[in-house]
Amino acid sequence: MRMVVLGLGYLGATHAACMAELGHEVLGIEIMPEKRAQLAAGQVPFYEPGLPDMLKRHIDSGRLTISGSYVEAAKFADVFFIAVGTPQKKGEYSADLQYVDAAIEELVPQLTRNALILGKSTVPVGTAERLTTRAQELAKDIDVEIAWNPEFLREGYAIADTLKPDRLVLGAYPGGRAETFCRQIYAATLAEGTPFIVADPPTAELVKTSANAFLATKISFINAIAEVCDAAGADVQAIAEAIGYDARIGRKFLNAGLGFGGGCLPKDIRAFMARAGELGAAEALSFLREVDNVNMRRRQRMVDITREVCGGTLLGKRIAILGAAFKPESDDVRDSPALNVAGQIQLQGASVAVYDPKAMENSRKVFPTLDYAGTVLDACDQADAVLVLTEWREFVDLDPLPVRDVVRCANVIDGRMCLDKNRWVSNGWNFVV
Ligand code: UDX
Repeated sequence: MRMVVLGLGYLGATHAACMAELGHEVLGIEIMPEKRAQLAAGQVPFYEPGLPDMLKRHIDSGRLTISGSYVEAAKFADVFFIAVGTPQKKGEYSADLQYVDAAIEELVPQLTRNALILGKSTVPVGTAERLTTRAQELAKDIDVEIAWNPEFLREGYAIADTLKPDRLVLGAYPGGRAETFCRQIYAATLAEGTPFIVADPPTAELVKTSANAFLATKISFINAIAEVCDAAGADVQAIAEAIGYDARIGRKFLNAGLGFGGGCLPKDIRAFMARAGELGAAEALSFLREVDNVNMRRRQRMVDITREVCGGTLLGKRIAILGAAFKPESDDVRDSPALNVAGQIQLQGASVAVYDPKAMENSRKVFPTLDYAGTVLDACDQADAVLVLTEWREFVDLDPLPVRDVVRCANVIDGRMCLDKNRWVSNGWNFVV
């Protein structure tokens, strides 16, 4: 089938490449010329395991082409995916829908045949309905159907999550062609038995928002328990393990530590609260404010612990930060807890050296004033404390002995509860979680 993907960021580039992988002919539309040129040359402008190979293969074969033209898009196909970003508005909780709106405003006037627009971006409930009304105003004697087909991919596992998702969800209005088209588009995935939930658009929009709110809540729940554990001298990791064996609870997303960040969970729970407020249901989601608060306290706690370990002041201290990405297997530093902590520690008078296996370039753009080291050992040179803030395998497997030889004080703070404590302690480290 021929299809267009509008917006080629993390979501859109992965979706476009995966649709080509499923055998479809895909045109990807990216309005930023630099990004477009990179993608057209078969290069992925961010780190996502497996994606560069897949993208290059389909660019080379011609099954995936890249353009910046909505006129070309309108001619190319009758199915369009919206995969543009929906960031948090500056100084507000709500989602900024300018890119979604722009996609509709640019595309629909160019359409000359009936079309199906499938939204993949995470949007506040009610967006599909609003866009349907607007598309009808913009359409010229044709029928434009808008349905929502949310995406649940995790960065770092984006290809597997797209090709073999836990479930497919479609929110469509009755009488349209969205379900028939989706059954064709995802035929290979559905043939493998992937559950397919078909509902109305508001329900599909809320499935996505609810999923992210639940995941954020689960993480903040275990981090709230970690706060109590700190006060009571108990072990939160053992608690996570023990309660995780209960199939009703499950072990996943119960890793306590520095908490969640990234381009999705933080802004999605805030946009969800904002939307509930607009709908007069603010009280229903008031607990999400606490989920956010618990999460932000984790960052503050890490700064406080570092100051304590350094004898009560960070002035003139040298701190090594291992990890800058918001999670491993990603170079994404959007709302990264690690960089947030690094910035706060520097503001309290320490000199901070950061090392991350993949996120150095992105970190430099956001925090140009931090020092960036080329290796773990360079970052740790003469450090008064070493903080592990992203659980990259390189750090989990790190040999504590050579690191001890380069630091000034052998203090390690395990911000992600990912290190083998015995190994570090037996190599002479003061180990703090
Ligand atoms: C998330 C959702 O998982 C995905 O379904 C949605 O489509 C987009 O948002 P992503 O942002 O890629 O995906 O990251 P995810 O793997 O969910 O991790 C989010 C954050 O939570 C990371 O900062 C991670 O370090 C943190 N986390 C995760 C924890 O602190 N503890 C855990 O147990 C799990």
